[in-house]
Amino acid sequence: MIKLFGIPFKNPIFIASGVFGFGLDFKEVSNKVGALFTKGITLKPRPGNPPPRIVETAAGLINWVGLENPGVDIFCRDILPKVKKLKCRVFVNVAGFSINDFEKIVEKLADRIDGLEINVSCPNVKEGGVLFGQDPKIAAQVTGAVRKRTRLPVIVKLTPNFCDPLLIGKACIDAGADGLSLINTVFGQAYNAHTGERIISGGLSGPAIKPFALFCVNRVSVLGVPVIGIGGIETVADVREFLSAGASAVAIGSALLRDPYLPIRIIRELKVVSNISKNEKL
Ligand SMILES: Cc1cc2nc3c(=O)[nH]c(=O)nc-3n(C[C@H](O)[C@H](O)[C@H](O)COP(=O)(O)O)c2cc1C
Repeated sequence: MIKLFGIPFKNPIFIASGVFGFGLDFKEVSNKVGALFTKGITLKPRPGNPPPRIVETAAGLINWVGLENPGVDIFCRDILPKVKKLKCRVFVNVAGFSINDFEKIVEKLADRIDGLEINVSCPNVKEGGVLFGQDPKIAAQVTGAVRKRTRLPVIVKLTPNFCDPLLIGKACIDAGADGLSLINTVFGQAYNAHTGERIISGGLSGPAIKPFALFCVNRVSVLGVPVIGIGGIETVADVREFLSAGASAVAIGSALLRDPYLPIRIIRELKVVSNISKNEKL
């Protein structure tokens, strides 16, 4: 058991946003993890982008899903009652295209969940598409606006793209964030080497980004709030690396597409490893 933001979690293995939907297809897995971060929820329903949406690369995936989701109203009416029956903490990943979007979504969610993960990797429409999370002032504005509207734990999910997570993370904490999660996907593209056509332009995830994610987690670990480490986690050894870098817990993403039962195996193996190290100390 671990305690973060004043609430207990049964273990430090969480499910990252986006790859497991709302955790309802594999309830037996969701029921075992410490927390589930839902797919990003927007104010209005979004159909997402046309295919190809996910392309495999040498050591990871590039996705361009486009935040497909039913929107906050349908989520609250049809999905949330089922999600609330899961035996894990539930954090809703909130995605907006304006500060007003974030405020409205948070108000509609009210206090029916365990916490919020604020996805600042979305483009800010008013600022010509610069991501909220690329500018410390704007990231702080989003965090402050959310903070005013909720008493739930607020985790800001940082983008690693063309900005320093330390500066952005500090601005968000100063504006009231309780914790940070990182990293979101890294900008990436793939081209057809024969025709020269672009196949996809989106976010890279998986083992390719793990060393960079460790660096980013370690960089923000000085800020003194709980950090959820994300990026290319596939094994217990990966989990231990993130904990060594300063994470309080970790979230598994892309690896679930290959093996949805991976969290159960990691939780079991982690227990064995920690029992061994306890015994070694005796
Ligand atoms: C298909 C897919 C969809 C994702 N959707 C979201 C999302 O809705 N919100 C979000 O904050 N992150 C989203 N992510 C990012 C992941 O939560 C995670 O931060 C990233 O993939 C790095 O972790 P990984 O290497 O374990 O996949 C998505 C990732 C993938 C691969």
